[in-house]
Amino acid sequence: MKKIYSSIRGMSDFDPTKSLAFGEVIEKAKNVLKVFNYKEIILPILEEKDLFIKSVGETTDIVERQMFKIEGKDIVLRPEGTAQVIRYYLQNSLHKSSNFHKFFYTGPMFRGERPQKGRLRQFHHIGAEAIGSNSYYLDAEMIVLALKILDEVGVSKKELKINTLGCDGDKIRFSQYLKESLSSKKSRLCDDCQKRLDRNPLRVLDCKSQQCRKEVIALNLEKEHICGDCQDKFQNLLVLLGDLGIKFTYSPYMVRGLDYYTDTVFEISSDKLGSQDAIGAGGRYNNLIKYLGGPDIPAIGFALGLERIFLTLAEKKLEEKLDVFVATTSQELLGLGINILGQLREEGLSCDLDYCAKSLKGQMRSAQKKGSRIVVILGEEEVANNTLLLKDMDKSIQKTIKKEDLTLEINKIIKA
Ligand code: HAM
Repeated sequence: MKKIYSSIRGMSDFDPTKSLAFGEVIEKAKNVLKVFNYKEIILPILEEKDLFIKSVGETTDIVERQMFKIEGKDIVLRPEGTAQVIRYYLQNSLHKSSNFHKFFYTGPMFRGERPQKGRLRQFHHIGAEAIGSNSYYLDAEMIVLALKILDEVGVSKKELKINTLGCDGDKIRFSQYLKESLSSKKSRLCDDCQKRLDRNPLRVLDCKSQQCRKEVIALNLEKEHICGDCQDKFQNLLVLLGDLGIKFTYSPYMVRGLDYYTDTVFEISSDKLGSQDAIGAGGRYNNLIKYLGGPDIPAIGFALGLERIFLTLAEKKLEEKLDVFVATTSQELLGLGINILGQLREEGLSCDLDYCAKSLKGQMRSAQKKGSRIVVILGEEEVANNTLLLKDMDKSIQKTIKKEDLTLEINKIIKA
């Protein structure tokens, strides 16, 4: 028995129906992004491993466990887009051309996670990044933009959670505080968090395990570790969101799993998703550009997960319809049929014929299956008279037309 290959676990195929729905969501998202003046960039799928180690963080799950490496090379399949956008920004010295940039990107990302519902090894991001301003008005724009995209694509029920991590100094102080206050309870934390407490204590905060959550909640965290400036800025943002009518939940334990975040972080979730409930997430990364060798320039962004968006949407049956199907009464007439297709395609009409079916009946079945609006039938008699038989499939009526009137007659039916 010859082996039939399957796709790799956690990497899905999109059948024509799904790909149509996928295209529709991307198109709607792009329209919103363009209205907000974000410019599209298309970036490669492979990047230097070190780019992600430096930006996402050496001790994060993504870097420690999930990157797909190219054997024998220091190259990985990109796990996310933010580091890439900043690589692109610095490589092209874009800070010299303008002090503010807005970009968006869509495409596949790769993380070697344990696959489950909503958690894949290849998934797709719609991401936006705005580089050059630390204004909380921009934070608000980012959040409004992410929510607007989700509204447009039909994700109706969603929750926005928001927190501030403070500046770099705040993060260092807070990490130290967590280390000290949790060290006496270390043995009660999960194995991962015992390691995190030494290497990246902030990550203990958003651990999902019950035992770790209990210990963290017992700390009764308030915002004391955040400096006055960062507290003020966050407060201003929350007031602004309130003024804009945006509902949010303040989530003091949310830190997000990528080390580059500072200040505002946010997550949008849906209760339709189960344990992997984040449809999108983002935040500020004010030190990343400096950290990757560039000037001290603040930035903020988010990414939405396309597969999770789909999981929240009701199954839509999208099927591509054909304008015209061409059927011939014999194989010998196929050449003439193909000429007709060429003529119709020049006019931008979607059309096809059946290269496999032998009988006219079989071809009519194909036309029906493909949802064809019109069938053009070509037989010996039509060829002899320079005519065609045109069948309106919706109305089940047919008429003989002059060959030269084909597009005129088709347009009459389609536009009626
Ligand atoms: P992230 O939270 O890692 O952020 O990913 C963003 C979104 O991608 C998640 O909220 C989720 O919807 C989706 N996602 C993540 N991992 C998977 C997976 N394994 N399977 C399916 N969907 C997944 C980032 O990647 C940041 N770069 C976002 C950002 C942009 N922050 C600032 N700018």
